[in-house]
Amino acid sequence: MQQIDLAQRRANAVTRAAASVHPIYPAKAQGSYVWDADGNKYLDFSAGIAVMNVGHSHPKVIEAVTRQAQEFQHLCFAVGMHDSYIELAERLNALAPGHDPKKTFFINTGAEAVENAVKIARVATGRQGIVAFTHAFHGRTHMALSLTAKAHPYKAPFAPRAAEIYRADYPYCYRCPFGGRDANGGCCQHDVERIREQVSTVIGEDQVAAFLIEPVAGEGGFIPAPRSFLRALRDYATEIGALWIDDEVQAGMGRTGAWWAVDHHDLQPDLVTTAKALSSGFPLGAVVGRSDVMDAPGPGHLGSTFGGNPVSIAAALATIDVIEEEGLLARATLIGERFTHMLHALQAEFHQIGDVRGVGAMVGIEFVKDDAKTPDKTVVEHIVEHARDDGMILLPTGTFGNVIRLLPPLTLSDAEIDEGLAKLEAAIRKSLAAQPVPA
Ligand SMILES: Cc1ncc(COP(=O)(O)O)c(C=O)c1O
Repeated sequence: MQQIDLAQRRANAVTRAAASVHPIYPAKAQGSYVWDADGNKYLDFSAGIAVMNVGHSHPKVIEAVTRQAQEFQHLCFAVGMHDSYIELAERLNALAPGHDPKKTFFINTGAEAVENAVKIARVATGRQGIVAFTHAFHGRTHMALSLTAKAHPYKAPFAPRAAEIYRADYPYCYRCPFGGRDANGGCCQHDVERIREQVSTVIGEDQVAAFLIEPVAGEGGFIPAPRSFLRALRDYATEIGALWIDDEVQAGMGRTGAWWAVDHHDLQPDLVTTAKALSSGFPLGAVVGRSDVMDAPGPGHLGSTFGGNPVSIAAALATIDVIEEEGLLARATLIGERFTHMLHALQAEFHQIGDVRGVGAMVGIEFVKDDAKTPDKTVVEHIVEHARDDGMILLPTGTFGNVIRLLPPLTLSDAEIDEGLAKLEAAIRKSLAAQPVPA
């Protein structure tokens, strides 16, 4: 069936609320490429929104999933306990940041991981307050959307939202109201001081169950939080007896060149949430945390019919093997270096490229109209369209919609990196060349 027919059927059968960035109906995907129903081929720099870190249809993942599907598909952990659930928990506990003993709980999605982390934190501390951040995205279920920052399209229509959620400023260095980076390239620390003031005057330090933060804000615009900020936040949480929930749903599983984005800063959160690339497209989420915290809820307090499904677990175990065997952490670092190098050169040429940032293979390019850093969403839309016409899938992101995010599979070959660099540069040049010169 051709794409034009599928578009008509989709319009008739699927709610318009489930929006798609690209008018693409995928028919096949292999490695770094996707083919649509009309046979067009695309270099996929979305990786299914940070899911296909090991590439599409990796043979090891397919083999593991096929084997498990033939053995059995589901019993439910609440009914009987399959050993692969335990094995994956052991592996994640060993990979999770920090040296304290860990335990794990499995669900199906990133939003569920966040929901359960909040439940666990509240029971473990006996407190209610959750401090989330501006530019945050934590999912779309009721608690998760309440924790998400952006009003439109995520939150605004869905009031009332969950209670006892407070919003602090994310350290967005490029748009820092205090002038940005300090002499060492770190955060000027005004943000942590302001959080301290906000918590003690508005919430009460003894009321905070947890700080919930993405170490690299994903949907907010691929904004890495500076090391000094994260360290100060960790210290402050410990000081007031609150927990630190590290949302690694988008940044984790090797994307940034380390297993977890916080590994770059040698920090130990109390709870880590993961999903997306954990299981290469098979639904799975996890909360991994300090054993004492994870055991705070009693038997039966947590559960899920599908959570920890054996087929998804098989995919996750194979995914971890592939990341280790193929050296994908180092590859993520190299991919990031190649792209930031090219983009910094372009930035010197085009004043509309306001910021190039990221960690490893999680690179954001922020486009602005002028020296006042007025966000330019339109140019990002043009770049995405030009790239698609040239056979490349790009994704926009950012609170203001003016950021291109690069999150290709970490298995990109050298030739595919070159192809991606060429297509991206061409799409940016074409879009910016068509722009009026500012007065
Ligand atoms: C940081 C972060 N947390 C949570 C979520 C929600 O994950 P899911 O869409 O699997 O519910 C996302 C999804 O983009 C995310 O990026």
